[in-house]
Amino acid sequence: MAVITFANTKGGAGKTTAALLLVTELLHRKYRVCVIDADPQRWFSRWYQGARLLPNFTIETYVSAPTIQKTIHERRSQFDFVIVDLPGIQSPLLAATVGLSDHVLVPIQGSSMDAQGGAQVLDLLRYLDRKAGLSIPHSVVLSRVNPMITTRSMQAVKRLLCEQQIHVLDTPIAERAAFREMFDLSRPLRDLPEAQGRNIDKAVANASDYTNDVLALVAAGTSARSAPLAERNLNRLESAA
Ligand SMILES: Nc1ncnc2c1ncn2[C@@H]1O[C@H](COP(=O)(O)OP(=O)(O)O)[C@@H](O)[C@H]1O
Ligand SMILES: [Mg+2]
Repeated sequence: MAVITFANTKGGAGKTTAALLLVTELLHRKYRVCVIDADPQRWFSRWYQGARLLPNFTIETYVSAPTIQKTIHERRSQFDFVIVDLPGIQSPLLAATVGLSDHVLVPIQGSSMDAQGGAQVLDLLRYLDRKAGLSIPHSVVLSRVNPMITTRSMQAVKRLLCEQQIHVLDTPIAERAAFREMFDLSRPLRDLPEAQGRNIDKAVANASDYTNDVLALVAAGTSARSAPLAERNLNRLESAA
């Protein structure tokens, strides 16, 4: 059904965390989900190796720029969602993947370094639009936001995005211990044990609101899209990138 790619050429931006939150919420809602772990560091796959078997879920690891397009094409017909987790570096995988995506999500933290990694992705999307006529829906998701305060750097990032007319998801992903623990314990958010000092309910509410935002975007994009993805001209994409 829908291919959603997480991209930011900087590591630590919150891609894998945002991808994992979305995936586990989609599975909770009984969707069939395939993750393409395109990061050679394999953080998502490592999480999955430690996790209990999840129904309706599969993960593809060790993909490369020449193989990823075929993998996406095959998997999108078999699953409700294909989620691509890209590496935090400049990589040929970025150009190979964004053109096949229904939506590209760019997690951006409220630091300037991070905004630069996001800007590289946003530049590529603009370039593809201009040079190849490929308009790929995309949004920034503000990540690791302190739920208690709005920092000055976060406000600066928001202002910059607004000036550039870049869509930002309504729900930011908060900085929460529970989101780190999903990786430490290799569990979905909703399966974390209760622990002192952190609020699972708030973390689940945040993940759920964010998932609602993404589902609404995908639904809007699907109905508005003029040319089906399968008809996108991949040669044009490759030559432009
Ligand atoms: N919302 C968050 N709350 C708490 N920790 C986070 C959050 N997002 C990311 N992290 C932590 O920051 C580090 C980098 O995040 P990650 O999602 O792996 O980024 P990326 O995939 O962009 O490299 C990890 O240790 C992760 O646990
Ligand atoms: Mg990652």
